[in-house]
Amino acid sequence: MIFLVIISCILKAGHSLLLPEQIHLSWTERENEMRVTWITNIDTTTYVTYRPIICPSIEHSDNWKTILPNTTKFNKGEIMVLFQFIHTAIMTDLRPECYYEYYIVTEKGKSENFIFSGRTPDSEKPYQDANNEIDLVVFGDWGTGPNGVYVKQLLDQHSKIRNFLGILHLGDIAYNLDEEDGRNGDEFLNQIQTIAANFAYMTVPGNHELASNFTHYKERFKMPINEANDGNSCFYSFNLGPAHWIMMDTEVYLSENLKDSQLTETNWLLEDLEKANDERNIRPWIIVATHHAFYCSVEHVFSRECWEESALYNSLFEDIWNHYGIDLILEGHVHNYERDTPIYKNATVKSEYDDSHTHKNPNAPIYIISGNAGNKKGHNDPIPSLWMPWTAFMSEDYGYGKIKVFNKTHIYWEQYSAIALEKIDYLWIIKDHLRYTKPN
Ligand SMILES: *[C@@H]1O[C@H](CO)[C@@H](O)[C@H](O)[C@H]1NC(C)=O
Ligand SMILES: *[C@@H]1O[C@H](CO)[C@@H](O)[C@H](O)[C@H]1NC(C)=O
Ligand SMILES: *[C@@H]1O[C@H](CO)[C@@H](O)[C@H](O)[C@H]1NC(C)=O
Ligand SMILES: *[C@@H]1O[C@H](CO)[C@@H](O)[C@H](O)[C@H]1NC(C)=O
Repeated sequence: MIFLVIISCILKAGHSLLLPEQIHLSWTERENEMRVTWITNIDTTTYVTYRPIICPSIEHSDNWKTILPNTTKFNKGEIMVLFQFIHTAIMTDLRPECYYEYYIVTEKGKSENFIFSGRTPDSEKPYQDANNEIDLVVFGDWGTGPNGVYVKQLLDQHSKIRNFLGILHLGDIAYNLDEEDGRNGDEFLNQIQTIAANFAYMTVPGNHELASNFTHYKERFKMPINEANDGNSCFYSFNLGPAHWIMMDTEVYLSENLKDSQLTETNWLLEDLEKANDERNIRPWIIVATHHAFYCSVEHVFSRECWEESALYNSLFEDIWNHYGIDLILEGHVHNYERDTPIYKNATVKSEYDDSHTHKNPNAPIYIISGNAGNKKGHNDPIPSLWMPWTAFMSEDYGYGKIKVFNKTHIYWEQYSAIALEKIDYLWIIKDHLRYTKPN
């Protein structure tokens, strides 16, 4: 009996070792491409096969295309040496109006089929069609364990009806990717495969990715490459619809001994903003997404993050945000949901028109924290909150946000509770003129 159990365990392990796992997608630095990254636990021949489906511009096609990946042998272990093979390949020549189907093959079998949209970031002009709206799911701080299950269930439902195009996970991933010799990272990536294999899953690092110089983060997530980031997935930007999206690494600014990395990122950011501002007539919105919060409403004694660290970040960036007229700043790190008014120097800035769910022609960035997707260790973190004059709404429910960029004048934000299974907050941002024109 025991013998049989052992045999069946070996067979089970042997079987899964050979199959692809942790399959996830991400956009690249070029348009009409989708990157797929997956893991095998042993070195095996493996590749991705894809074809367009639901594609008005192409006759139904049985022409599957096959792409071989680049493979990295990665030691995920800290105590034990545990190698895994990280494969990454780019599917090209996508069309924005089409959906694509793909699967991963290894010597011993294949994955199930997954589907993704061919609508990807634009390198120049925004893609135009009758329905040019962009919906992205936004959250930070999501891990394995029971607290993350609520968001997993709701996100699985939303994935099935495909009511969004991609996901922004704003740092603190798996709690932690490197834990249990990396097996916790594997578990997380397998847990999100139903979602991340069907939608671009875009990330920035949080403080929980810090181990071994962010090695697990950099190896497992492959984000757009630019001249400054050296291909390390920590900071990048993309254009999608009438918005420019900046994905920022706030971790480096907390380390005194990372002055060089800080300078590299800040210089990149300024250059990126300069370019985005030049193109504001075609993309009026600039949205920044980070792990750490610039403003959050928590009692001082409970949170170094919301006081000392926020003060540091604001001393570095607030004038930059205001100079370039950043519209919206999305954040994680604090384990709750908080929407603030437009803020400059710790005070609400009046918009041309304000009500509790609308800002028309705001005059400073609006700050939103959606940092409660469900972290492994903590509970819901009901850290005593302290409503500030600029706090507009708070909730401790596990959940996530969704941003809808309708067009050049309207953005709609909503936050879902994965506990109550409903929308708990929303906001319209409307602007019919640019707040800042480039000074010259
Ligand atoms: C594979 O590696 C080559 C050489 O470093 C690089 O040019 C190419 O972009 C990589 N492809 C992917 C899919 O990462
Ligand atoms: C950590 O990673 C950064 C960026 O990839 C690199 O510049 C730096 O040299 C690394 N530091 C160490 C201690 O390896
Ligand atoms: C921000 O304003 C609040 C109240 O308006 C005050 O309690 C707090 O000390 C201020 N924070 C900073 C960093 O100035
Ligand atoms: C932009 O979207 C909003 C919200 O759907 C709509 O009311 C408005 O008419 C749209 N503007 C244009 C120019 O299509």
